[in-house]
Amino acid sequence: MNHGPHRADEGLFDVDAQEDEAEDLGPTGRPLPDLPEPTPPSAGPKNAIIIALTNQKGGVGKTTTTINLGAALAETGRRVLLVDFDPQGSASVGLGVNPHTLDQSIYNLLISREFSFDEIVLSTTVDGLDLLPANIDLSAAELQLVSEVAREQTLKRVLAPLRDRYDFILIDCAPSLGLLTVNALTASDKVLIPLECEFFALRGVALLTDTIAKVTERLNNDLELLGILATMFDSRTLHSREVLERVLEAFGDKVFHTVIRRTIKFPETTVAGEPITAYAPSSPGAAAYRMLAREVLARCHAG
Ligand SMILES: Nc1ncnc2c1ncn2[C@@H]1O[C@H](COP(=O)(O)OP(=O)(O)OP(=O)(O)O)[C@@H](O)[C@H]1O
Ligand SMILES: [Mg+2]
Repeated sequence: MNHGPHRADEGLFDVDAQEDEAEDLGPTGRPLPDLPEPTPPSAGPKNAIIIALTNQKGGVGKTTTTINLGAALAETGRRVLLVDFDPQGSASVGLGVNPHTLDQSIYNLLISREFSFDEIVLSTTVDGLDLLPANIDLSAAELQLVSEVAREQTLKRVLAPLRDRYDFILIDCAPSLGLLTVNALTASDKVLIPLECEFFALRGVALLTDTIAKVTERLNNDLELLGILATMFDSRTLHSREVLERVLEAFGDKVFHTVIRRTIKFPETTVAGEPITAYAPSSPGAAAYRMLAREVLARCHAG
């Protein structure tokens, strides 16, 4: 990758400066929609919207987005459940839970009917944000489920009774298109795809959209693509902006206006075990995830 020449005349390529000149244009170069300040949810019975965050490519910001979108939605007064659906347990770690010391996890809910959700769910340091934790046990579930009847519907069965307790349920998927991810897609109303603004971002996306289409056709007719989120964007590199342009060409209006920039703050939040909205509440990263929360509320007609 050739960063050299662009760094030399950074002013020319400074997206921030260009954004200032054209105030109405958002980070994706499109006019920003008017997104009102979210109002608290209505007092009536809840009916959670379930969103799977998925991309079989590793390290694209699925877990970071699940945690920080979840926390930003919780800040608006929504009740949010995060489902760690990755045997790596990263969402659990990111919320300060040590997965190795868990006796029980989402695995137990999937495999046995003897456990209740209330025995396994954990509250987090963020008001309104709960966590169904995971650890390496979940990798055994993938194998055990293969021989089950309705093996793709197992997570759906676990989550369906929780809809009236939450406004949003966010599922942090593992970097794979295996049975666990198919379970997540089958249980969900919407799918959010984080895409890293890096060279091979679009490689494999066709396979992902193909899997989503198959699940929609065979297992979950109601599944919808909520949006594509550009992550790890670095405005100093021409390269990052080229990738963003390609993503916009490929997905048009499905691309969120919010773009998540690359910043060391995100790895720091993992060490701190809390969302960026708590760790660095006035940072640009926290503002970006609050903006994403507004977009999600608007796209879900839940603002
Ligand atoms: N915007 C960002 N800027 C800089 N670092 C980031 C950003 N988003 C995430 N990271 C870091 O990149 C790494 C991968 O992010 P994350 O764990 O969210 O990706 P993932 O898609 O969930 O990965 P996996 O596929 O392994 O589950 C983490 O160390 C995280 O802290
Ligand atoms: Mg992850």
